[in-house]
Amino acid sequence: MDNDLKTSISSIYADDSEQINRYARASQHFKSIYGAVPSHIFRAPGRVNLIGEHTDYNHGYVMPVALDKDVLVFAKPRTDSKITLNNIESTYPETSFDISKSIPKVENNQWGNYARGVAQVLANSSQTQLKGFDALIVSEAPFGVPTGAGLSSSSALTVVLLKAFSYLNDYDAPISEMVTLASDAEWYLGTRGGIMDQFISLAGKQNTALFLDCRPDSSDNFQTETVTLDKDYRLLIINSGVKHQNVGGGYNYRVAACRAGVGLLQKHYPEITHLRDMETIDWESFSGLLPDISSVTELQAQGIDLTNIPTIEPETQLKVKPRCKHVWSENKRVLDAVKAIKDLDMHLLGQLMNRAHVSARDDYEISCPEIEVLITSLNKKEGVLGSRLTGAGWGGCVVALVQKEFIASVSEAVGDDYRNLTGLEPTIFPCQASDGASLVWQS
Ligand code: GLA
Repeated sequence: MDNDLKTSISSIYADDSEQINRYARASQHFKSIYGAVPSHIFRAPGRVNLIGEHTDYNHGYVMPVALDKDVLVFAKPRTDSKITLNNIESTYPETSFDISKSIPKVENNQWGNYARGVAQVLANSSQTQLKGFDALIVSEAPFGVPTGAGLSSSSALTVVLLKAFSYLNDYDAPISEMVTLASDAEWYLGTRGGIMDQFISLAGKQNTALFLDCRPDSSDNFQTETVTLDKDYRLLIINSGVKHQNVGGGYNYRVAACRAGVGLLQKHYPEITHLRDMETIDWESFSGLLPDISSVTELQAQGIDLTNIPTIEPETQLKVKPRCKHVWSENKRVLDAVKAIKDLDMHLLGQLMNRAHVSARDDYEISCPEIEVLITSLNKKEGVLGSRLTGAGWGGCVVALVQKEFIASVSEAVGDDYRNLTGLEPTIFPCQASDGASLVWQS
């Protein structure tokens, strides 16, 4: 293997020997498909969110960490405008298409459609005719980002394709524009989340979490600050193996409930645009303006605009008050968590994570029985300071703050509990914070 590539791999991953084998295998695979070696390798990481769930689309605060689990693109530019994609996992068949400003989606080709989404948004924002490439996507276990685990595999795939595509076409853009492009590309598939996942996948920093304010400033930039955990503690990630689905109604119902809350509050607080704007106001002084539950029809009759949110029907019931309460309280917890980390008060950070979980479970209702088994088990273990569901919800992963010397014993004991109580096999690994998306190597 090329020395530059080895050096680059060593600078990215803590355990480079396994990664060198992974990259070498993928290069061979590329050659066996395309008859030539790749000229470029790109990567984009998945993420775990330490605290700040479902706040991003409310212009709130989040604190994600970019993982060393990533999606790679091995690529070779073409002279025409065709994109050919293969995947190292044989369950994903080859797919190809021509770049244009309007690219039809292909049924049953979810992973290929992410590439179509990226190509379409870039074609629409570029002044020149874009050139395509032959590519191999690499995101296999245990190094890749597991899908449906709440670790943002879709955003990692979108971001790495965007990185490859823009680099190979000399398309240079500031991070805020790249975030928007990646988010628009996911919208092509019908998922409109906030900006957290794309942002951290692009801008993560090794060994740190990123405190991100999801409200753009007047120049459309986002304020960030890197925060470093006390080195005696680690984040442990436990994948329940229960797959969550972002494209279902649950996520969009919550987006709608928050929007409904803003609409109702605007009648008394006309200056607000997002729930974030209520951060300095006491919950008790405005919560009476919000209904516990209301149908879309009833809310629309009060002049609330709920258009343009997929899967919302007139009879959909939205639990406005509890959803807004979660967002309002979660924003405060993120700010407190930043302070706790800076004060080296890991016990407080743990408590904030526990409270965040209760709020996500009771007010936002995004937990599920298997996640509760993990949280209950973690809460009883020596060395665990706090734990919570991470990601969109309804399955996926739990993140726990654990004293370093207890990582092995907690992993083993929680794994046993989970297996015994659910019959499911969890995947457990300590979080290794990595850098955001990059060109790893070029020939
Ligand atoms: C998904 C979305 C994010 C964010 C989280 C919940 O991962 O893509 O934008 O809303 O859910 O915090």
